[in-house]
Amino acid sequence: MFFSLIKNRRSIRKYKPQEIEREKIERLMQAALLAPSSKGRNPREFIVVDDKELLLKLSQARPHGSSFLANAPLGIVVLADPAKSDVWIEDASIAATFIWLAAEALGLGACWIQVRERKQRESIEAEEYIKNILSIPPGKRVLAMMGVGYPDEIKSPKQEEDLEYEKVFCNQYGNPLKERVSR
Ligand SMILES: Cc1cc2nc3c(=O)[nH]c(=O)nc-3n(C[C@H](O)[C@H](O)[C@H](O)COP(=O)(O)O)c2cc1C
Repeated sequence: MFFSLIKNRRSIRKYKPQEIEREKIERLMQAALLAPSSKGRNPREFIVVDDKELLLKLSQARPHGSSFLANAPLGIVVLADPAKSDVWIEDASIAATFIWLAAEALGLGACWIQVRERKQRESIEAEEYIKNILSIPPGKRVLAMMGVGYPDEIKSPKQEEDLEYEKVFCNQYGNPLKERVSR
């Protein structure tokens, strides 16, 4: 079950207009809060966005990589408090990953939108743009946003032949754990 879920998970950027049930949104956030964090400090925070106008504004956080959020029924902004942990990036990333996998398990599709280290326009950081829209306090950091919705595109699952086993070593770098399955 878990392995078919991670094989089937793809980046889904096209969504049906159908709203996501409240119960499913709560399950997504339950998954986010179940994610582990360094020293259990839980520096991550989340903003669930279902307001169409806000989603449209957030979809403009990047020149290209975020436009699909305009047609998503739901966006989840993943942020963190760096004052709580020096490894907030890792902690927030694991939580975002849990949301992505939970979406798949709930029959939804999701896709990550990178925010940290990305620009909205030449002179404006995507993070600052989002912070202004959502009244996020200055000390907090925005890692990413997740677009979520019922999938309106079909993507094939990952194939075993595509897995880069040549990047997996055993005991010493360069010593393959497994020969690549021939294509
Ligand atoms: C850290 C990270 C950042 C990403 N940023 C974006 C993004 O800003 N916009 C986007 O459309 N997809 C983004 N993606 C999705 C990747 O493009 C996608 O996962 C990759 O092409 C593999 O496709 P798959 O998810 O369907 O397996 C991101 C994925 C990760 C893990």
